Amino acid sequence: MRGNKVLGEKVHTQSESILFGGVLPPFAQDFHRKHIEPVVEESLKRANVNFEDLDAIAVTNRPGINLSLSVGVRYAKHLARRYQKPLIPIHHMEAHALTARMERNIEFPFLCLLISGGHSLLAIVHDVDDFSLLGETVDDAPGEAFDKIARRLKLRNLPKFEHKNGGQAIEEAALTCGAITDKYKFPLLMARHRDCQFSFAGIKNSAKRFIQNEELSLNLDADLVIPDYPDLCANFLGGITRHLCHKTQRAIEFCERKEIFKDVKQKTLVVSGGVACNDFINIALSQLCGLMDFKAYRPSKKLCTDNGVMIAWNGVERFETQKGIYPVDRIDEIPTLNRCMLGKSLIDEVKDAGISCKWAKIPILQPFRRAGK
Ligand code: KG4
Ligand code: ZN
Repeated sequence: MRGNKVLGEKVHTQSESILFGGVLPPFAQDFHRKHIEPVVEESLKRANVNFEDLDAIAVTNRPGINLSLSVGVRYAKHLARRYQKPLIPIHHMEAHALTARMERNIEFPFLCLLISGGHSLLAIVHDVDDFSLLGETVDDAPGEAFDKIARRLKLRNLPKFEHKNGGQAIEEAALTCGAITDKYKFPLLMARHRDCQFSFAGIKNSAKRFIQNEELSLNLDADLVIPDYPDLCANFLGGITRHLCHKTQRAIEFCERKEIFKDVKQKTLVVSGGVACNDFINIALSQLCGLMDFKAYRPSKKLCTDNGVMIAWNGVERFETQKGIYPVDRIDEIPTLNRCMLGKSLIDEVKDAGISCKWAKIPILQPFRRAGK
């Protein structure tokens, strides 16, 4: 990578700890402790490099569950001391945002939508270490909503979804929906809020009610899936996608008013995080961007979900620009942080701007539009 070698350690964050039983973080911590050394050694072996060859070590230190983060940070500090290498603490969401620059030469500043199992946020990326937060979720993250509804639908009981995560299962189920009906229409989310804040709890609860009512009316056995689940999944995916597109459109209009991107050759929206793997969402965002003189870019799917490469890449970019590097004699200063906002907040500024958008007519979302909307 441009001549620099930075070891990036993937340290599981909040939502992944939930996968390992987030209610039992010590279990997640044991899991990390057991695997961290073999995983690091195996990656060096596969890359055919030694610790001595490295320029620096990058490690996630924020935000996330302290018990999990501390395993990686402690191990990284140990390696830094042992091999006398500088340490680079990494913000998990900053790394998601910047991965796109590894695959494509995207110039600063760009707009970024990060959607995962633990986050939903819109930010302007001005530089490697300079972010402005335009909006974030006030309750659930979209991946969390997908996971919970897939579980509530019991999609795992169907062999074709047995090994899929919630988002994948709902996306695939939605694809099998022949015709979208009005039976499972979801209300427009946060329609009256002229901001870039997200909320997914309402749509999740509406979906739960739809499922419960349908199960009761059909007197369905406990382990059976409602027969028209594809229709529910299509409407659920459509509702979430519309919400993401609306908030992204307002973010674009806010940036245009402020002339944030006036000097860039190509105005870009980067979409990343696990939920960005969803092709339907990605197409809708690309179509929105096409209508607004922007280009949407999604990193390859394996780089959208959590991975160690994104941490290493953030390390490379920071190392090249010498931003946030800790020499060995200062590594004790590096903390682990449970919460850490991405950059400076412009959330209130967006609210104060009170931008009323005329919603773009996104072709793929037309079947989900209701009369007058
Ligand atoms: O970024 P990620 O790997 O982990 C964090 O949450 O940080 O994202 C995992 C989330 C899960 O909630 C999963 O359901 C969602 O990404 N996801 C998807 C898809 N693939 C993964 N959501 C919607 N559509 C998908 N195809
Ligand atoms: Zn993530």
